[in-house]
Amino acid sequence: MSTYTIDSSTSRATPVSAPMKRVTIPAIRARKTGGAGGGEPLVMLTAYTVRMAQLLDPHCDILLVGDSLGQVIYGLPSTIPVTTEMMEAHGAAVVRGSYHAAVVIDLPFGSYEASPEQAFATAARLMKGTGAAAVKLEGGTAMAETVAFLSRRGIPVMGHVGLTPQAVNALGGYGARGRSDAERQQILEDARAIAEAGAFAIVAEGVLAPIADEMTAAVPVPIIGIGASANCDGQVLVAEDMLGLFERVPRFVKRYGDMAGVISAAAEAYAGEVRARSFPTADQIYLPKA
Ligand code: KIV
Repeated sequence: MSTYTIDSSTSRATPVSAPMKRVTIPAIRARKTGGAGGGEPLVMLTAYTVRMAQLLDPHCDILLVGDSLGQVIYGLPSTIPVTTEMMEAHGAAVVRGSYHAAVVIDLPFGSYEASPEQAFATAARLMKGTGAAAVKLEGGTAMAETVAFLSRRGIPVMGHVGLTPQAVNALGGYGARGRSDAERQQILEDARAIAEAGAFAIVAEGVLAPIADEMTAAVPVPIIGIGASANCDGQVLVAEDMLGLFERVPRFVKRYGDMAGVISAAAEAYAGEVRARSFPTADQIYLPKA
């Protein structure tokens, strides 16, 4: 029988033989590389469920409970209908399933934009209800006051600039950002404003590679790219995209697995055996004791 020690400050549910300390937000903030050659990039993936968190956690610095769960888990058309209740339930599951990575949780659309006070109430609710270490919110200069308000009150904030999916209606789609000089300047100003306001890291999504490079060089906090540049201080992807769960993925996704193929093949094999009455076999049934 093994004896496990649970370090309850870092582990919620998974007993590990060697207690581990979670990656902290200041440790992430300190991982600024400034570009290729500047140090090891941060590794971030999304997670929405306990089992995925358990599997991804040892490999990641950050697990993001992204509001992309609206599309990935709930089949919603965008992130706009995602609720704070959804985020809270999935965030708690991810914290229960992890003991190493820092868990960051998205503030969903409509739960933080009205005022810094509204953002504080939602962030406090999500951090209390889930155990996540930080929140992420979308927006640049317009959200700088809110980022400062939260940061000064002990809530670490990750920013998100460039292609901000919650603004899909205003942006007119999910295309890459920064094709005009005005857009390029706005994106860089957004990142600078959020960093100055106290964000500990910033996601740069769907921005032209030279803009991501300029941002990584100029902004003093880690820039985590998605559809951005290999020179960023880190990378993030939606886990189900990179695992190959979906047929259609954005151009910037690389598939590292074929989860759809594995699931389809297993379901087909199971269905065939049930229909042929070859499952269950004697190994999978209970018989009366002799
Ligand atoms: O919601 C999400 O998953 C995200 C990442 C794609 C950065 O914001």
